[in-house]
Amino acid sequence: MKESAECLTEDCWSRWLNHGRDGGDAAMRARVEAETTAFAARVLGFVPAPPGEMLDIGSGAGLMGWAALARWPDVFVTMTDVSPALLAQARAEAGRRGVAVRCRFVRAGAETLGGIADASQDLVSSRSALAYVADKPAAFRAAYRVLRPGGMIAIAEPLFRDEALSACLLREAAAKTGDPLLALLHKWKAAQFPSTSDAMEASPLANYTERELLGFAKQAGFRGAHLELHIDERKVPPRGWAAFCAASPHPLAPCLADILARDFSRAEREMFEAAIRPGIEAGQFGTASRMVYLYAHKP
Ligand SMILES: C[S@@+](CC[C@H](N)C(=O)[O-])C[C@H]1O[C@@H](n2cnc3c(N)ncnc32)[C@H](O)[C@@H]1O
Repeated sequence: MKESAECLTEDCWSRWLNHGRDGGDAAMRARVEAETTAFAARVLGFVPAPPGEMLDIGSGAGLMGWAALARWPDVFVTMTDVSPALLAQARAEAGRRGVAVRCRFVRAGAETLGGIADASQDLVSSRSALAYVADKPAAFRAAYRVLRPGGMIAIAEPLFRDEALSACLLREAAAKTGDPLLALLHKWKAAQFPSTSDAMEASPLANYTERELLGFAKQAGFRGAHLELHIDERKVPPRGWAAFCAASPHPLAPCLADILARDFSRAEREMFEAAIRPGIEAGQFGTASRMVYLYAHKP
């Protein structure tokens, strides 16, 4: 990939990874870093022996790559992504970390992994990237293609289906009760997640369950699969309202501030803020992460 001014232009992926997921809140950023570092360590922990060549799908700012390079002194990592901005950012970071000779950066979609040779990798990893890929079976086939026989896929993917189902339920509850606050909550959630069964089927975010991911892996030819679904509920510590409004739950979702400005009347904004803001600032709300860990071998 050529370095160019275009590579440094932000896109929705780099904007979200660099600012959108924490809304500029330093404490939230530290929590996200701790959580994602743990996700990466768990994925690599499934790998029984150090790989020689590893490819990371949707590598973003390099989370999985840095973890692998630190864990295995002899591994060579190919980071692949569709975002030129993130590939450029990760390349610069590799220089800062002194690991530039142990990795390369390839602009490639998960669906084809174009430019990556057949049977060239010992390990294909991914963390929170396939969730954004509409054709997940194609991504598993591409991963299978680039692995050597005996190679392994190890991934962690979030399940957003429950958030989408909650958005569907909010609409039903708002219609049934006529409660204006429920209608506003639905307007918020429906702007960030698919909120009808048709929209769920059409959205890469919600068009899969953990069992379907397992099925895609098996259809692609993977064997000896192991899957774990981890659901972790936790309380969210107090957050400033501005940072809460500036954050969004995933790269394709608008932040709450944009939704309030775009979709809410002034009276609706006031009602919504009066109901939600005190709980956010007092740390009264909880959240849950739902993460699927899947590993399997290419026979
Ligand atoms: C939530 S970020 C995760 C980044 C990184 N894996 C991590 O764990 O920090 C999603 C990543 O998937 C990438 N992505 C989105 N669509 C993709 C596609 N079709 N093929 C490959 N990567 C994709 C984005 O550019 C972004 O880097």
